[in-house]
Amino acid sequence: MKKTAIYPGSFDPVTNGHIDIIQRGLCIFDRIIVTILENPGKDSLFTVPERMELLAESLKRIENVEIDSYGGLLVDYVKKRKACAILRGMRAVSDFEYEFQMALMNRRLERSVQTVFLMTGLRWIFTSSSIIKEAARYGGNIESMVPPVVRKRLAEKFGFKTVGEQ
Ligand code: PNS
Repeated sequence: MKKTAIYPGSFDPVTNGHIDIIQRGLCIFDRIIVTILENPGKDSLFTVPERMELLAESLKRIENVEIDSYGGLLVDYVKKRKACAILRGMRAVSDFEYEFQMALMNRRLERSVQTVFLMTGLRWIFTSSSIIKEAARYGGNIESMVPPVVRKRLAEKFGFKTVGEQ
């Protein structure tokens, strides 16, 4: 039977670190559904449709990936999509406590749902959507950290020019 994993997150916006986890996840799972869910602890810069569009453009060359969004509990979505696992990326130790708490809560809510953690590539250990947005807000060069379409959209949001523009 084909194995599907849900890769949930805010993806506000998608970064090269997320794409790295998706590619690693595809070595284990037959299909990954990348799902935008609400994180009540975060204010978002991009709307859900904008984030979906950025994910679609950034992942268009990767097979066996689907993009979706959901407004409820993650474990309900996992069951709805008949997935066998939640995929999450782990960067530095600082991620551990939050991820551990979330995985145990999800297990408490639904015993059959497993969470699989993959270590992100070393290049992406110190990057996150939040820190990238902060750098971009003040015109910092975030070129190597996000797909080109994300860089362009961040430049538009924050009103600065990308390389090659007048
Ligand atoms: O990229 P993020 O912000 O770290 O992702 C967190 C996210 C969106 C996966 C998490 O907040 C989530 O699962 N939200 C949906 C509601 C839910 O099921 N929460 C977990 C159990 S309380």
